[in-house]
Amino acid sequence: PLDTTIPDPSVVCLIGASGSGKSTWASTWPATQILELDAFRAMVSDDAGCQEATADAVFALQAVLEARLARRRMTIVDGTNSEKSVRAGLVATARRYGMPTVALVVPTPLPVCVERQSSRPRSRRVPEHVVRAQHAATAGAVSGLPAEGFDHVVVADNLGRLLPFLQRLSG
Ligand code: CTP
Ligand code: MG
Repeated sequence: PLDTTIPDPSVVCLIGASGSGKSTWASTWPATQILELDAFRAMVSDDAGCQEATADAVFALQAVLEARLARRRMTIVDGTNSEKSVRAGLVATARRYGMPTVALVVPTPLPVCVERQSSRPRSRRVPEHVVRAQHAATAGAVSGLPAEGFDHVVVADNLGRLLPFLQRLSG
């Protein structure tokens, strides 16, 4: 059967290409529980799309993540997370704090992810070749996510309108 389990608390790692709808899914949770990499880029550089700021943004996000995990607070990591090394870091951090991990995959078709870029302000637009690479990396990663150490691998499409209900049950 499909895994739709998202324990509370847990660390939810969103995985999907730009434009797949990760932040839209993240917004199902209270704003204070969402650590969005773009928001940390903006906090350190005033520019959410500033790629040069990524290392500092990751450093700041990691600090907040650990502060939350030390308090056993539900935390949603909203970034592309399409690289295995990035996911490995999140799983290792969650493990150190004894928190369960959820990979929440957002499998929106590539043409939809690409089309959604065109309605964004120029500074927030991700080039098509990058979206394509993120999409391929996401598709290629799904079957390996349990072996990467995620306790639950949930495909967002399977949650549908159930999510708010599931959260109420676990909350
Ligand atoms: N969107 C939509 N229907 C959905 C999900 C998203 O129409 N079911 C729209 C959103 O309104 C938004 C766009 O698709 O305008 C991209 O969604 P977003 O959540 O911002 O995508 P992310 O995956 O967060 O993209 P990024 O990695 O660039 O932050
Ligand atoms: Mg987003």
